[in-house]
Formats: sequence, C-alpha cells, structure tokens
Amino acid sequence: MNDKSVELILNGRKASLKVNDNTTLLNALREYGITSLKRGCEEGECGACTVIIDGQPVKSCLILSPEVEGRDILTVEGLMDDGKLHPIQQAFIDEGAIQCGYCTPGMIMSTYAMLLRNPDPDEEEIREALSGNLCRCTGYLSIIRAVKKSAKLLRDASKGGGSR
Ligand code: FES
Ligand code: FES
Repeated sequence: MNDKSVELILNGRKASLKVNDNTTLLNALREYGITSLKRGCEEGECGACTVIIDGQPVKSCLILSPEVEGRDILTVEGLMDDGKLHPIQQAFIDEGAIQCGYCTPGMIMSTYAMLLRNPDPDEEEIREALSGNLCRCTGYLSIIRAVKKSAKLLRDASKGGGSR
C-alpha cells in the first residue's frame, strides 16, 4: 500500500506522488501518468527511464521516491511549450532519430541536460553524454545528427530570446 506522499515540482508544477519507502521514482512517475518513461532494464543500464532532477540527468529506476522530496523534476512531458514541440524533439524527428521510439524520451532528456552545460558539443562530447542511453534501432548516427541540430536550434533561439 502506498502510504506516503512525496511533494515535488514536476514539469513546472507542484505534484504529490503516492509512494511507499520502496517505490522507485520510475514506478511512482509512471503511476502518476508520466508514461514517456520506459520501464526497460530497471538496473541503470539502458537509460530509457532518464529524467532531469535539478538540472542533472538521473536514471529514475535507480532512485527511491522519498529521495526526491522537494526536488524539481523534468520529463519529456514538460518540454512542450503551448502545444509546440521543443527544438530537441523537433530535431529528433527531422533527423530520423526515432525508430521504435523506446529509447527516445531518455535520449532527449540526456540531450537536454548536456546542452544545459554545453551548448555547442562536439561528437565525442555527445557520445560521452549519451553513453548511458542505449538504442537498439538507429546505430546512433541519426541521434548524433539530431543532437547537433538541437544544439544549433537552441543556440539560435537563445540569440532571439526563445526556447528554454
Ligand atoms: S529502466 Fe532505468 S536504466 Fe533501464
Ligand atoms: S529507436 Fe528503437 S531503441 Fe532507439
């Protein structure tokens, strides 16, 4: 039985997760309706469950829900702005970086976190930042192109005062 509440900021809004001491953040968020997170390996290997916590990418299968009390969590659901895709989402579509889509939300969140720290990454930096996210379909080249395009779109938007 879920007998605890965890209060946090989820995608910019206050939220309360119903959990018990052993509920992983992955399971708590999925039960809350955040279905972009995929239940892949549940061992920290695949990255399909990646969320951003206070600006850092975290595998939500490896963290227990009570640990996120008061924290700020972002998932793919929080990236859209007024029904408009985030530039990273748009770039993944434009570059054909989505096949089955299972890895995509995690890839996008790891990309988001990297671009917060490094707005103009080279290929090696991209591969390093995404090394915890596995994709069985694309061979990664289209993903790397998508990340480079995301970076450019975000740099251009920031010159114009746009996208978060
Ligand atoms: S489900 Fe969390 S890393 Fe695979
Ligand atoms: S698109 Fe299928 S696992 Fe990456």
